[in-house]
Amino acid sequence: MTEPLFGVDYYPEHWNAKRWPVDAKLMQQAGMNTVRLAEFAWSRMEPKEGYFDFAWLDEAIEILMAYGIRVVLGTPTAAPPAWLISAHPEILPVNEDGQRAGFGMRRHYCPTQPAFWSATQHIVEVMATHYHEHPAVFAWQVDNELGNIANGIRCHCSSCRAAFQQWLQQRHESLERLNSAWGTVFWSQEYTAWEQIPVPVRNVRSGSPGSAHNPALYLDFARFTSDTWVRYQQLQVRILRDLCPHHLITHNLMGLFPYVDYVALAQDLDVVSWDNYPRLPTPWSPFNGGWNASHIAMAHDLMRSLKGRTFWVMEQQAGPSGWGRLSPTPLPGEIRLWTLQSIAHGAEAIVYFRWRTCRVGTEQYWHGVLPHDGTPGRRYQEVLQVGGELRRLDELVSATLPAEVAILRSYDVLWAFEAQPTAEALSYDDQIGRYYRALWRRNVAVDLVTEDRPWEPYRVLIAPCLFVLRDNIPARLHAWVEAGGMLVLTFRSGVKDEHNNVVDLPLPGELCELAGVRVVDYTALLPAGSGEPFGGPKSLELIIDGTSHPVSTDMWMDELEVNGAQVIGRYRGGVFDGSPAVTMRRIGAGKVIYVGASLDDAGQDLLMGMVLAGAGIAEVSSPDNVEIVRRVHKGIDYWFILNHGMAPQEILLPAGGVELLTGRTISGKVVVNGLDALVIRSQPEQR
Ligand code: GLA
Ligand code: ZN
Repeated sequence: MTEPLFGVDYYPEHWNAKRWPVDAKLMQQAGMNTVRLAEFAWSRMEPKEGYFDFAWLDEAIEILMAYGIRVVLGTPTAAPPAWLISAHPEILPVNEDGQRAGFGMRRHYCPTQPAFWSATQHIVEVMATHYHEHPAVFAWQVDNELGNIANGIRCHCSSCRAAFQQWLQQRHESLERLNSAWGTVFWSQEYTAWEQIPVPVRNVRSGSPGSAHNPALYLDFARFTSDTWVRYQQLQVRILRDLCPHHLITHNLMGLFPYVDYVALAQDLDVVSWDNYPRLPTPWSPFNGGWNASHIAMAHDLMRSLKGRTFWVMEQQAGPSGWGRLSPTPLPGEIRLWTLQSIAHGAEAIVYFRWRTCRVGTEQYWHGVLPHDGTPGRRYQEVLQVGGELRRLDELVSATLPAEVAILRSYDVLWAFEAQPTAEALSYDDQIGRYYRALWRRNVAVDLVTEDRPWEPYRVLIAPCLFVLRDNIPARLHAWVEAGGMLVLTFRSGVKDEHNNVVDLPLPGELCELAGVRVVDYTALLPAGSGEPFGGPKSLELIIDGTSHPVSTDMWMDELEVNGAQVIGRYRGGVFDGSPAVTMRRIGAGKVIYVGASLDDAGQDLLMGMVLAGAGIAEVSSPDNVEIVRRVHKGIDYWFILNHGMAPQEILLPAGGVELLTGRTISGKVVVNGLDALVIRSQPEQR
């Protein structure tokens, strides 16, 4: 078993070379063996077109190597230099408002521009040729956080528009078929030449999601854009595979980032890595109340599920972060706890962002392990402690995390809801997060899959808001349930066909028969306080094992008619009083639960308890905010006990054994301090 990769994102180009040996020595003392280097350093590696300088980077790598540190090299393409942009201003991306970005940020490029493809090809080829046999280099990171553009979400430039038209031609074959698939008869949008087809720049007053474009065009444009990033990454991957066949290739993804199909992006990589900032609300974060430990766990599980294997954390938060404003600083113990949580969920590399806090540039406030002045302090001491502890976890880094429950998170659905959010505060990831959190509280392992990942091996599949149905998903679901699967479907399922048009069927559309229900009426609910009678949460009762539990719904209500399903929840009061809200149908050896309401935490919790019991999946109980994760390797169980709360908690251990961080043998009830963790190795005879 290999040791975990442990290190930092390091920017030697930001500091005087005299400092490099000091840094390398401090890294070594902290137990580090890995750095990521050079992403963003394009202007130092190619100061003018065709003129390359690697002397400084060679020197930095030599120094690091002397201290036992190996290198992941980043290709620098997220930061195209000024000379390139001034020669080819068309590289600058055009946002949804039709505005071209200016120079001065990063990610200021369009992934389809020919001039950017050739500049990319050039720098990556030269870099790969220079480092292909370097003894310290073992891996590459392609670009940095693909999928964003500096000034918006997607590029709408003329090159992208032409590429989109070509992409559509391949997908739809003829204009007749495209017109019919998109329903362009609406508002006289029928196209008589491919060149007429627009990209969805905003052409209504601001505030309209999806720019009020045809939802069919919008979904195809989102799919197309995602493909452009996959193809741009392939350009680099092809060069690196060719010139550096012995090196690993990764890219740093962004967890729940919704604008690129990460399953497709991950396919070309050896290993997925991602950037984990627990304290930072991202612009696409669906969680209004901010991130909590279950959201981070969910993002880890998504990253692991993309390839169904362990992953790397390429940027792990190591200090207060932000561009113009700072997030709070990690509490003492939190950097360590976040690191152990990453490892619990399958990280085999931990790389902190960043080594030393930069004195210049946009990220002056993005604090690293060391403060601006470079003096090791509290955060360095904590990282050093972690470095020592990680060596005791060598044996489990590639252990598996066996999950019997999967949640379906579809990129088509994300994009369709982006065009039409459907209800005031409804968010697809928030709905997914509610189910995830209920399972997380019961310490049940979960994978997050898409339509394109195998979900048949799981015993429970939860598919919240399966809004868009494509391929033969309904038939596959039917066969899987008949064979014994437990399926959970919810409101807003089966609403759209693969083109993002509403189906010509009662809802949940092609899933009606499977669910044994028909939606006869529905309503969105407004946030509390706004416009009774449809403002604020509404009551329903869940009847589980003959006992009635009062719960509520806050975003949506389906009024249901049952056809072969049993009612396990009904609305109480209000317009849909007495109507079925939650149902269960047996089909063959399996069951389908249909949830017509967006349940509150208590409702989710009850429902998941019932689902797990029905599927015979064991839960592990723990106090609030204490997470328990099981990894398995060679018949040995490794239990992570993570106390995300500030107060000590008494915990009944799921198994006794050796606590690897301290070497003590423990069993039964133990107290785990606030923001502390245990890792227990439990041999079969100790269970
Ligand atoms: C991302 C990037 C890093 C760094 C941080 C902070 O995660 O990958 O390069 O810029 O954000 O902005
Ligand atoms: Zn473009």
